[in-house]
Amino acid sequence: MKVIAKKSELTAAIEELKQAGKTIGLVPTMGALHAGHVSLVKACNQNNDITVVSVFVNPTQFNDKEDLKRYPRTLDKDVALLEQNGCDYVFAPNVEEMYPEEDTRIFDFGHVGEVMEGARRPGHFNGVGQIVSKLFDIVKPHRAYFGMKDFQQIAVIKNMVRQLHYDLEIVPCPIIRESDGLAMSSRNTLLSPEHRSNAPHIHKVLEEATHLTAKMTVDELKQWVIDEVNKNPYLEVEYFEIVDDTELQTIRDWSENNVKVGCIAVYAGPIRLIDNIVF
Ligand code: PAF
Repeated sequence: MKVIAKKSELTAAIEELKQAGKTIGLVPTMGALHAGHVSLVKACNQNNDITVVSVFVNPTQFNDKEDLKRYPRTLDKDVALLEQNGCDYVFAPNVEEMYPEEDTRIFDFGHVGEVMEGARRPGHFNGVGQIVSKLFDIVKPHRAYFGMKDFQQIAVIKNMVRQLHYDLEIVPCPIIRESDGLAMSSRNTLLSPEHRSNAPHIHKVLEEATHLTAKMTVDELKQWVIDEVNKNPYLEVEYFEIVDDTELQTIRDWSENNVKVGCIAVYAGPIRLIDNIVF
């Protein structure tokens, strides 16, 4: 496994591999890797000759400066974990390398970028678009792998791939959970012990909610989820929405013929957690 910090070095290596007929898979990450990331690396490995994992805490997608400051950075551990899990190239640039000058590009992802996270974290998806498009331009992968915990991010990136005509496949991968049900996230390491032990309540409530669709309207169920999560004094719901899985339009009635996904954002103290579940 090679660890590369320079765009030009990575591009040259990939160019050579492509000339030799190799397929390239990319797993974009912000590091602080956990079993969820490892599952993406394994999926990538299975379907591509070469697996490239990028590790870069992208400043332009943080709308909250404190969140950027405290975001965990564990490159040495990440590199060791990637080495054990079949990664071929780690791309770990610094901010200068990725943003030698300010990226002034503004993306418009339409509705999928405006709701839920888009409404609460202004500029977040624009920053995601900036960095992911740069990574696609540098690596030119055949496939790119993203975790479904960031369900809306996948819809946004698919929209960008269509608009910019990237010739690659976006591969969504299932959420990986801790044994107590909490969706794996690099931010979980920032939770206080009390918030960590109460955070699994989020998934427990979502799970229960999937069994209540015969008893409640969509609006009643949405309110039920918010109330149940908020009953826990360590958690505070920011939003809970039930949307279809492609356009992210709000579901009004259970009889609608589409896949329905419940998406939640919850504050556990200062740490913001997201999760989702298919109804
Ligand atoms: O999902 C993430 O970790 C980030 O948003 C991504 C896709 C690596 C872009 O910085």
